[in-house]
Amino acid sequence: MSFDKPAQKTLRSRAWFDNPHNADMTALYLERYMNFGLSLEELQSGKPIIGIAQTGSDLSPCNRHHLVLADRIRAGIIEAGGIPLEFPVHPIQETGKRPTAGLDRNLAYIGLVEVLYGYPLDGVVLTIGCDKTTPACLMAAATVNIPAIALSVGPMLNGWYKGQRTGSGTIVWKARELLAAGEIDYQGFIKLVASSAPSTGYCNTMGTATTMNSLAEALGMQLPYAAAIPAPHRDRQECAWRTGKRIVDMVHEDLKPSDILTKDAFINAIRVNSAIGGSTNAPIHLNALARHIGVELKVEDWQTYGEEVPLIVNLMPAGEYLGEDYHHAGGVPAVVKQLMNQGLIFEDALTVTGTSLGDNCRDAVTEDENVIRPYDKPLKERAGFRVLSGNLFTSAVMKVSVISPEFRERYLANPDDPEAFEGRAIVFDGPEHYHNSIDDESLGIDEHCILFMRGAGPIGYPGAAEVVNMRPPSYLIKKGISSLACIGDGRQSGTSGSPSILNASPEAAAGGNLALLQMGDRVRVDLNTNTVNVLLSDAELAERRADLEAKGGYQYPKSQTPWQVMQRAVVGQMDTGATLEDSVQFQRIAQTMGLP
Ligand code: FES
Ligand code: MG
Repeated sequence: MSFDKPAQKTLRSRAWFDNPHNADMTALYLERYMNFGLSLEELQSGKPIIGIAQTGSDLSPCNRHHLVLADRIRAGIIEAGGIPLEFPVHPIQETGKRPTAGLDRNLAYIGLVEVLYGYPLDGVVLTIGCDKTTPACLMAAATVNIPAIALSVGPMLNGWYKGQRTGSGTIVWKARELLAAGEIDYQGFIKLVASSAPSTGYCNTMGTATTMNSLAEALGMQLPYAAAIPAPHRDRQECAWRTGKRIVDMVHEDLKPSDILTKDAFINAIRVNSAIGGSTNAPIHLNALARHIGVELKVEDWQTYGEEVPLIVNLMPAGEYLGEDYHHAGGVPAVVKQLMNQGLIFEDALTVTGTSLGDNCRDAVTEDENVIRPYDKPLKERAGFRVLSGNLFTSAVMKVSVISPEFRERYLANPDDPEAFEGRAIVFDGPEHYHNSIDDESLGIDEHCILFMRGAGPIGYPGAAEVVNMRPPSYLIKKGISSLACIGDGRQSGTSGSPSILNASPEAAAGGNLALLQMGDRVRVDLNTNTVNVLLSDAELAERRADLEAKGGYQYPKSQTPWQVMQRAVVGQMDTGATLEDSVQFQRIAQTMGLP
């Protein structure tokens, strides 16, 4: 299947650079864009003006290699007859931004919407990579709906330490257990963690970055194989050049995000997410993207379409390998091909190539079956998400497949009901409370307790912190207890393999019942019915609610910056993507506002 719309008649950049009906403004636009070297001839040539939305900078090490790749993107754009204009996107560095990079996704989004809408751009290359840069860029392209193609920066090379692969993020969870157990010291801890980042690029594990870059490809928004080629490889440079060439043709074809980001494309992405063992951040970002393009996608769709799909990609944290191995094994097209063989892919879904996902992936080969397993020999069966609800929240997400045998034995040991457990609640209000008290022996935390994190959602800890996966107290780790059940209204890093129940909506700070929970309450998790309930009557909960409201409601830290105030005022909950609620009314503004 291929895309064959008639050629676009008028480029929107003509309204700036070649508009005889408004000669005054045209002259002003022209003289200023000519002042650094572009000629009148070029600007009035009728060639498409292509933006390069640059997310790399010294503040964003994961995406910094895009500063180099931009030269190849430019070369491709010029080769195909376009004119490149590069501009910065608000930086988002997952690990460097305080209080959390989650706060910046929506900020980068609105900033990029203003640029794409308000400047003379006919199409755009979105330079994606680090976790939130991918959804921020895709969401903006969806809203403005001008031709757009994404380019991943690519994963880092594999990390190594004493002959073993060390993966981004994942090594931190391991290293902090070793530190807590006294097996390594502070210097050893730093060295071990740093070994996981040997080159430029995004996290080499199947964390949120690899997930979102893979899903950008599965959605059809970047060229085949573009997600997984390691950042330093020469193929990455070639991919940048091809991406630049392709966006010019997309402008001539008028191939827009709304042609690509259909419900079918989202269902394909949900299934790919299960097969790769994707991050629990994916539902938040894809649900947000869907809302901005006007596709109805519910958090429940992740269970409906994704739960039964097995995990076939053997990358850390669920498996053994890393980004380089994923690329050598065949990357996203090899995964899609496996799912196509099972009839799990809508093969007609259109992509940036102008052909369908099915056509792009039909000849893909799995080069290493240790890394990308055959569908019938998976790492785990039913690897997608469960969506849970109950009297503490209306929805939360859990990756059931990461429940370890040890966890199952400890929590799910009841032979009469092997899919349900009860535990005593240990409740923390925000990450600082948890860090300061987890080793406090007076809390009496034992191996059957359930740790709760609240005040960590889009409003409570503005942007939602990745803090729900909490380690047990040191005294339990020394006894060999490496994880406790965790539940919360925050997020969890995609590099963590904990079986947490997270993204709980509504959060405590938005009136959710997690705010009513008290230390020592009994909580029942039932995976037969996908429910989580505190064992209190409705009347007791109503009484606690009245007490809380009388004290002024659930308390959380004050805003520290103007953007925190603004985001808190309008942000939605994680089940609907934690978007700026007013912004979703502006889906596809380029069409609704009649841009040329
Ligand atoms: Fe940037 Fe992982 S921290 S990609
Ligand atoms: Mg992360």
